[in-house]
Amino acid sequence: MAVTRTFSIIKPDATRRNLTGGVTKMLEEAGLRVVASKRIQMTKEQAEGFYAVHKERPFFNDLVSFMISGPVVVQALEGEDAVKRNRDVMGATNPADAAEGTIRKTYAESIEANSVHGSDSDENAAIEIAYFFKPEEIVG
Ligand code: PPS
Repeated sequence: MAVTRTFSIIKPDATRRNLTGGVTKMLEEAGLRVVASKRIQMTKEQAEGFYAVHKERPFFNDLVSFMISGPVVVQALEGEDAVKRNRDVMGATNPADAAEGTIRKTYAESIEANSVHGSDSDENAAIEIAYFFKPEEIVG
C-alpha cells in the first residue's frame, strides 16, 4: 500500500475542550504521522474559501461561523492509504452515526461540532494541504 498524505483539522469544539492531544493520539494510533501542524485562528475569508464547495448548502453559513468560533489545528498527515485511514478513524460526519472507537464517536458533540475534518480524496488532500502549508513547513 502506498504511503500518501491527507489533511486534517482539529475543529474549535475540540480545541476548546483541550482535546488536541487526545485527537492526535487517536490519529497516531491509527497509523498516521503528523508531518505538519499549526494552531491558527481562521479568518472568515479563509473558512469561506476552504469550504467553497459547500457554499450552496443550507448549513454553509453555520459551518463557516463555527469554524471561526475559536482556534483550530491544521495538520498534514502521512501514512499508508492516508485519506481512507483518516476517514475510518474519524467516523461518520454525524457522531450519532459514528462507530465505536472513532474520533467522532469518542469526542464529537453534534453534526456541526464534530471535532475533526479530513480530506475525502488524494486530489483534495493535496489542494487542502497547499491551502494552509508552504512546502517547507511539511517535514516527512
Ligand atoms: S453530508 O451531509 O454528509 O453530505 O455532509 P458532508 O459533505 O460530509 O459535510 C460537509 C461538511 O459540512 C459539515 N456539516 C455541517 N455543518 C453544520 N451543520 C450541519 N448541519 C452540517 N452538516 C454537515 C460537515 O461536518 C463537513 O465538515 P468537514 O469540515 O468537511 O468535515
